[in-house]
Amino acid sequence: MGGNSDQAELERQFQQRIDDDIKIEPKDWMPDAYRENLIRQISQHAHSEVIGMQPEGNYITRAPSLRRKLILLSKVQDEAGHGLYLYSASETLGISRLELIEALQSGAAKYASIFNYPTQTWGDVGAIGWLVDGAAICNQVSLQRTSYGPYARGMIRICKEESFHQRQGYEIMLALARGSDEQRQMAQDSLNRFYWPALMMFGPHDGESAHSAQSMRWKIKRETNDALRQKFIDQTVPQIEFLGLDHPDRDISWNESRGHYDHGEIDWHEFYSVINGNGHCNRQRLQHHIRAHQEGEWVRDALAAYQEKQRQRDCQDPD
Ligand code: 3HC
Repeated sequence: MGGNSDQAELERQFQQRIDDDIKIEPKDWMPDAYRENLIRQISQHAHSEVIGMQPEGNYITRAPSLRRKLILLSKVQDEAGHGLYLYSASETLGISRLELIEALQSGAAKYASIFNYPTQTWGDVGAIGWLVDGAAICNQVSLQRTSYGPYARGMIRICKEESFHQRQGYEIMLALARGSDEQRQMAQDSLNRFYWPALMMFGPHDGESAHSAQSMRWKIKRETNDALRQKFIDQTVPQIEFLGLDHPDRDISWNESRGHYDHGEIDWHEFYSVINGNGHCNRQRLQHHIRAHQEGEWVRDALAAYQEKQRQRDCQDPD
């Protein structure tokens, strides 16, 4: 009986720490399921940051001005750094970088479905910054209060950079919306193509979410998928109005009694089709990642050789 009661006591103490908003740190005891859930969510978050570099990276050589090229370069580099923070947070849970990369490249792990949509115009770069990073901010500001210490601290750092990402995207949209008729049409077209996939970033409805209930009990999540999605919808309506563009959701309307906007339904068939590998760019994104990873093998080998040389030198001359 000792084993079961010891386990039950450990779980009780763990949940008490969660309920008391005491951060869980890498060396603390935690249920295997908590650890696995975190590895799943944090590593997929990291994969999203790194794969998310591809759609915008396509426009670094096509930016309309040197200033725009510099801003986009800076943003794409930020995303790489966000990925590294999050891979490092995942590794504190006892999984290696190699295992994480293999899970991504084999298709076993997910990344945000939005990055499987192609960037067809410069307006898309604006819509991604404004809507995708805007949606990510809604989600990541909430995650600053997540119960796992390394994840929460990584979020605080990431959120500081995300607001710049969102602002630069909205500035692109503003320039287009106030430009020629063709530029306005480009902005409207990008809004139409990226608005609904941005709403999908918040995941399925709470009732269909496989992980939300448990993630809320463990305070991995502090707000539900639908609550965060509603926050994003509400903030985006005046932004679209300020741009003078048409809202892609014909059912959007203010509901005074709810204090929120009522809205149309997401195409969940499209959502599950894309996250199951059938989006426009799923194969291309993974092939690009695999190729880049292979081309970077010499860097990893050189680092490993240097570290081994350092280790041998430290062994010979420990002082
Ligand atoms: N794209 C791909 N998969 C998605 C998804 C999406 N938009 N929404 C949900 N899913 C997956 C989940 O991963 C889960 O699959 P799994 O069991 O294989 O992991 C399944 O659909 C069911 O969804 P749940 O709601 O049950 O899953 P979660 O509780 O994990 O909620 C989430 C999904 C809201 C995305 C949550 O994981 C989360 O908050 N993650 C952290 C934030 C994040 O990853 N954002 C991605 C974008 S990062 C970004 O945009 C960076 C910016 O700088 C550009």
